[in-house]
Amino acid sequence: MPIAPSSDTVTLSLGSSSVVVALKGATVISYQHAGQERLFLSSKADIRTSDPNAIRGGVPICWPVFGPPPADNALYAKLKQHGFARTSVWKFDESQSKSSEEEVKAVFTLQPTEQIRAVWSLPFRLTYTVHLLPYSLRLSLNVQNPTDAVASLPFQALLHAYFRLPEGVLPPQTLVSPLENLAYNDKVTGEQKVNESRKVVDVDGPKGEVDRVYFRAPDELTIAYKGRTDSVKVTKNNLPDAVLWNPGPEKGKTIKDMHENGVESYICLEPGLTEPFQYLEAGESWHGDMEISFA
Ligand code: BG6
Repeated sequence: MPIAPSSDTVTLSLGSSSVVVALKGATVISYQHAGQERLFLSSKADIRTSDPNAIRGGVPICWPVFGPPPADNALYAKLKQHGFARTSVWKFDESQSKSSEEEVKAVFTLQPTEQIRAVWSLPFRLTYTVHLLPYSLRLSLNVQNPTDAVASLPFQALLHAYFRLPEGVLPPQTLVSPLENLAYNDKVTGEQKVNESRKVVDVDGPKGEVDRVYFRAPDELTIAYKGRTDSVKVTKNNLPDAVLWNPGPEKGKTIKDMHENGVESYICLEPGLTEPFQYLEAGESWHGDMEISFA
């Protein structure tokens, strides 16, 4: 079965590749390619739709905000960090999902529910398409402000990918490029719009912690590893920024849904639209995507 739905997940298979998408958050929780798992998932993550918490790992979708919501604006007052898309239960749209020898595609949608209306007053329609291709995985997010909306729809959007590191590789041995000459906000030190002077950035910082928002990052990024030749290619489209995050061992211990030493097994590289907010007028739509492949 190329597309196999269950009560909590939808599994896509193509040749020896497969993807599992949890209905909670439409979170991709597994991507197997060439016999290896490519994403990190905490063993303490609860993927069931009955559980209200975000899934620690995979590719959660941050929407309509990234990070803590803006203060001093009633619209965002009831939102939690990274918004509600990652904790809401999405609908699997079987009628739009398709499979062939070249691609298996599953479509998920999210529209306001009673629970969402309690924290967010504006109408919207999100469509998320997971494309499993022979050599890659493409994730496409579409945001629509309905034609009958009476206000514009402001949002940030981010695909918070947890990339599993190869066996024996730690975050400080992980290299991300090209980020040279980009401006970034350092969420560890609080510095804003710092210039990145390094050609290749290792995922290391004070006590191992890295939390940076790189603005206007190139659309093709590479994750490589010291002393190894394999790498991951992350291609993005219409997601101008990229967040690089790993909390380091000490802070990692304070994350309650993280298994012991789990933070040593991944880096997050998160293509997103963080600044400025995107505004959609009634009837307008926006689309951003990322693709993961390997060399
Ligand atoms: C990153 C943020 O995108 O997500 C970090 O830049 C944050 O500041 C991290 O700690 C994880 O967030 P959460 O809400 O899933 O614990």
